[in-house]
Amino acid sequence: MSSHKEGWGSRVGLVLAMAGNAVGLGNFLRFPAQAVQNGGGAFIIPYLVSFLLMGVPLLWIEWAIGRHGGKYGYHSTPGMLDSMTKAKWWKYVGVFGIFTNLTVAAYYCYLESWTLAYVWHSITGAFEGKTATEVANFFNHYVGIVDGGFFNFPVEAIFFFLITLGVNIWILSRGLSKGVEIASKIGMPLLILFGIFLAIRALTLDAGEQGAINDATMGLNFLWEPQFDSLTNPKVWLAAAGQIFFTLSVGMGSIHCYAAYVRERDDIALNAASAGWMNEFVEVLLGGSIVIPISVAYFGLDWVVAPGNVGLFMGFRTMPVLFQNWGPILAALAGVMWFGLLFFAGITSSLAMGQPVMAFLQDHFKIERARSAKLFGACVFSFRCGVSSSMDTGRSRNSMTGQEHSHLWCLHCSSR
Ligand code: PHE
Repeated sequence: MSSHKEGWGSRVGLVLAMAGNAVGLGNFLRFPAQAVQNGGGAFIIPYLVSFLLMGVPLLWIEWAIGRHGGKYGYHSTPGMLDSMTKAKWWKYVGVFGIFTNLTVAAYYCYLESWTLAYVWHSITGAFEGKTATEVANFFNHYVGIVDGGFFNFPVEAIFFFLITLGVNIWILSRGLSKGVEIASKIGMPLLILFGIFLAIRALTLDAGEQGAINDATMGLNFLWEPQFDSLTNPKVWLAAAGQIFFTLSVGMGSIHCYAAYVRERDDIALNAASAGWMNEFVEVLLGGSIVIPISVAYFGLDWVVAPGNVGLFMGFRTMPVLFQNWGPILAALAGVMWFGLLFFAGITSSLAMGQPVMAFLQDHFKIERARSAKLFGACVFSFRCGVSSSMDTGRSRNSMTGQEHSHLWCLHCSSR
């Protein structure tokens, strides 16, 4: 049981932090890829049904478990589950709520660090005048698919990874209301602002204008024209439910943890629903109005739906090239906004993966805040190195470029 007393400073702060927990890279990178790979309009109905019938009730359940645990001084799932039953083994089930956050954070923070690096490169104009192949090669070099750097490590990627971890540790060690809450109050509005700007720019692209071959609204129709025949396809349902789990951060112990810091008499039904709906607004309206419409406008629908073209990394490999069509100033601005919004989305989520780990260390081992934040950072760094090096059989050949590379820092090898 804990002796650490922390709490949210305000209701707005709580809802923004919870929404920031849910709104993440999944909203802007994973959602469009899933929607395209599962037939656009064919995906949307199972997705929305899963949100209403599974997502919202799960949010309520997790908020309730969290608040209950918090009442007894437990802020992470092992203690919370223990406080709910007499069965001793339950608390061990709760260990998943620590472990999953750590493992997801290991790749998530790394992806987050790419967005920071790409903000920097957009500011310095690194993509200006580059062809599609050059931008794709830039990415390959950055993540170490192409050899280069010290001992074949992508030095720059590791540098930005360390900075990103440092920022996470710093915010976490400031505490809930002075750290996480302030980060969410700054990050969420900026993210929404950037998203609205990019969505408007995307949706007003007309065929023949700035190199576009189609109206961008064609991409929107692809996403929003319902296809009822998908309703009998279990694969689409599974993908939709999987996206709901990931995007709402449910089943991870992260929502439980944030909810453990609400006050006993706080309304959880309305607050949970507000945060959940806010996530859907960002995912469906903003996440669905950037990557897909812009790529349909420039490449056409056939290219977009062809297997292997739209994936998780498209935001890095392709978007900076497409922005170039808008002229140097707007291209740089769009790059900063796109990768900036990804960074804010990413960091408000990685903080939510760190907090349960910290709460566990604080509650059960009485490790103080700053030290537990550092421990979280160290674990994430070593997991990132450890997980990939345990799979590292040495070197392999990239199927796209034919070049040899080391496995160690390559997410392609571990995530495909
Ligand atoms: N929901 C986040 C996203 O969409 C991911 C996440 C998972 C965050 C688990 C916290 C905990 O990117």
